[in-house]
Parts: sequence; C-alpha cells; structure tokens
Amino acid sequence: MILTPSVPYSDRMPSRPPDGDDSRQPGPSPSPRDLIRIDHLRKVFGDGTPNELLALDDVSCSIQEGDFVSIVGPSGCGKSTLLRILAGLLDYSDGSVTLDGAPVQGTRRDIGVVFQNPVLLPWRTILDNVLLPAEVLGLDMNAARVRARALLAMVRLEGFENRLPSQLSGGMQQRASIARALLHDPRILLMDEPFGALDAMTREQMNLELQRIWTESRKTIVLITHSIPEAVFLGDVVLVMTARPGALRRVVPIDLPRPRTMALTATPEFGERAQEIRAFFNHAGSFD
Ligand SMILES: Nc1ncnc2c1ncn2[C@@H]1O[C@H](COP(=O)(O)OP(=O)(O)O)[C@@H](O)[C@H]1O
Ligand SMILES: [Mg+2]
Repeated sequence: MILTPSVPYSDRMPSRPPDGDDSRQPGPSPSPRDLIRIDHLRKVFGDGTPNELLALDDVSCSIQEGDFVSIVGPSGCGKSTLLRILAGLLDYSDGSVTLDGAPVQGTRRDIGVVFQNPVLLPWRTILDNVLLPAEVLGLDMNAARVRARALLAMVRLEGFENRLPSQLSGGMQQRASIARALLHDPRILLMDEPFGALDAMTREQMNLELQRIWTESRKTIVLITHSIPEAVFLGDVVLVMTARPGALRRVVPIDLPRPRTMALTATPEFGERAQEIRAFFNHAGSFD
C-alpha cells in the first residue's frame, strides 16, 4: 500500500489552480507507475441525437497502485459515468483510459465494483451471493468457498453465511456486497456511493470498516461519494468534480495520518481539508 506516493499528487496534478483561474484542468504528467490513467476523457450520451448530452469533458487524472482515491461532486456531474467507464461497463467518446498501460475495453477480472444498492439475490444465502462471481467466471468452487468465508470474516459477517439477505441490516448487506466484489481478488475496487443509503451512524462504522478492509486487502480503491467528510476521512487524495459537463477541477491531497479514527474528524486539520473542498463548491455554486 502506498500511503505517500513517491511522486506526490501535488506534483502530478496541481491542488490549486493559480489565483483567479478556477477553470484549469488538473493535467497528469506521465509516470510509469500509474495503474490507471485517464487522459482527456470525454463522454457524450446520445451523440448526434436531439437529446445529446455532454456528461464528461476533458477529464484527466492518474491513480497509482495501492492508492485510496475519493471522488466528490454534485449530483449529475458524471461521477457514475466516470466509474462505469473505468469499470469497462460503458464506452467513452474521446480520450483514453488505460489500466497498466492497456486500454480499458469491456469488463475486466482485475476490477471489482460496489454500487449504492448491494443488489444481493434475495433467494440465495449470503455465502452463495458472495460466490456468484466465481460461478460467472468459472473459478474453482472449492477454493472460492474458502476465500468467500475468509472475506465474510474480514467484513465481520462470520456466522451469517447461511442467512438470506433479508435477514441482514442494510450495512451488513453492503458489507456482503464488498466481500462479493473482492471474491475474484481484483486489484482495483471501484465504489459508487456505496454507503449513500445508510443512516449516519452506520455510515461512520462502514467508513472505519472500509479503511480496515483497504489496509488488509491492499487494493487500489476509487470511492465515489456525495459526502465531503467521507471523502476526506478515507482518501489519500480527493478529486473534486464540478457540475455538468463533469470535469476534475481540483486535487486535494489528504496527508492525515493513518489509521484514521472518528476523533480525527473533529480536529482542525481535518476541518481545513473539508473546508477547502466545501469552499470550492460554494465558489462554483454547485452542491446539493
Ligand atoms: N445512459 C444514459 N443516457 C443518457 N444520459 C445519461 C445516461 N447516464 C447518465 N446520463 C446523464 O449524464 C449525466 C451524469 O450522470 P451520472 O454519471 O449518473 O451523474 P452522478 O453519478 O454524478 O450523479 C446526467 O445528466 C445524467 O442524466
Ligand atoms: Mg451517481
């Protein structure tokens, strides 16, 4: 896990545009260690139709192996679009997205995705839900079962393997969906507002859990969230997106020590980072 990338984010992508220039795009400079590179990415829905919509415009950034990257932005700014493109679930119109130097085309085994809704199959037990990717990918089921049980223990669902989803709380269901996303041992975990449907207390608990899971599993995580405190609490860096057409407008490195505790959120250091992001949105006039 790289807590402090040897090439700091601030060198690769300026955290602040020069005074008075809020329109400047963070532009990456080439680095051989980049795991994910997004260059001048553009996404137009309904190209050439009367309903044509520019969802992402000239998005560029790079992510290194082991990073925890939070992406925060207002509703409708293209966060899910960006994540679906990264996951290979959606084509893009222009620019490039590469993983280890190879273009992302279609879904890949080295990526796991967690959505806002856990989407567990209600008739299958928790264990069988977690095993689903092994069936789809044709993995060795005995080995997958051992791994599924270990992952369920990691997300603290030991003893719930044979329960049905309806017998678990929302937070427990989301933990099961994280275990499912990790079953095939992907290098990258993409998470789209995974805790958006949870109450505030459960959400804090899940933030702590996710930090622990990241530390134990050593994955590269890209977390999309509406919540500035969540983005700051979890991220090595927060990428700030602006309203449609979505663009990455600011990179805020979060150089706070780990493991982070909830007490950290009450410190001036934490407040300063959150305020920097909040002030940016207030200035840009867009946040919900
Ligand atoms: N499949 C689609 N077809 C047409 N427009 C879409 C589609 N998916 C998303 N959009 C539009 O693209 C914009 C960005 O959507 P989305 O990425 O879901 O935003 P966010 O996740 O930030 O809330 C929105 O205006 C949305 O209506
Ligand atoms: Mg979304």
